[in-house]
Amino acid sequence: MGMYPKQTIRSLYEHKNESRPLSWLTCYDYSFATVIEKTEIDMILVGDSGGMVALGYGDTTPVTMNEMIQFASAVRRGSPNKFIVGDMPKGSYEGSDEIAIQNAMRFSKESGCDAVKLEGGAVMANRVKAITDSGIPVIGHLGLTPQSASALGGYRVIGRTQSESDKLTSDVAALEAAGAIGILLEAVPPTIAKDITSNSPSLIFGIGAGSDVHGQLLILHDLLGLYPNFRPKFAKCYVPQVMESFVHDLSKIEDLTSFGRSMRTDGIHEIARLAIDLFVDEVRSRKFPDQDFSYKN
Ligand code: KIV
Repeated sequence: MGMYPKQTIRSLYEHKNESRPLSWLTCYDYSFATVIEKTEIDMILVGDSGGMVALGYGDTTPVTMNEMIQFASAVRRGSPNKFIVGDMPKGSYEGSDEIAIQNAMRFSKESGCDAVKLEGGAVMANRVKAITDSGIPVIGHLGLTPQSASALGGYRVIGRTQSESDKLTSDVAALEAAGAIGILLEAVPPTIAKDITSNSPSLIFGIGAGSDVHGQLLILHDLLGLYPNFRPKFAKCYVPQVMESFVHDLSKIEDLTSFGRSMRTDGIHEIARLAIDLFVDEVRSRKFPDQDFSYKN
């Protein structure tokens, strides 16, 4: 048993009903998973963004099922008590219901993830239903879907035109009808995300979708300022706000070497824990995301 009880689909829905926003963070390896295990983060996403931040690919499209399973197994070993969502990589689910079930089943059996996420709207409804019917919960991903960024015309906010916002609304309804337990909206205008959230029976998560959703996702490497190549508008780095108290606490310790050896809270692990705790606080109090980290409508 970890420090905090593991979330279940039931408890996640209870939080939605209590209007308690959910915090969701990506992770790709064992060491950071041990940090997250100590925090009140509700859910982990083992995202295919790991292909970029941990493997150095230029985008998420080359990521393979084997790489995702390796990431997710390591995260499960470090975070035995977190609700883990495994991200289905490009090419692992589009071909047929059978391929989608086979890969989702491998993901769940070999890594121990609790649910999977896949990109796409109504055209993926059959895949969502097939995986759900096989006993694996599914979260949909709409708006800016990086696996099909080329077809979308690049990385951009989705939903500013009437036809795009109508399509988002009908895609959400199609995924929910197919059994999705939740939908992630990426780079969607805040008012559209708010409308979708207020009418949705499922859990609506946002990354770059404003504050009026049921839960917020952030990329771990953005939260920690660890990815040097690019930082999107919605990505908040929480390290500067926690450094002062970290340094202050250490300054009171006389023998840092023996403190470090016995406590192991004198380095990056502790800074990450403090930063993640602050993210959870700001999500719960709806301080994050404010206008600085939200797209305009
Ligand atoms: O892979 C991932 O981390 C994601 C987010 C960018 C939404 O899917």
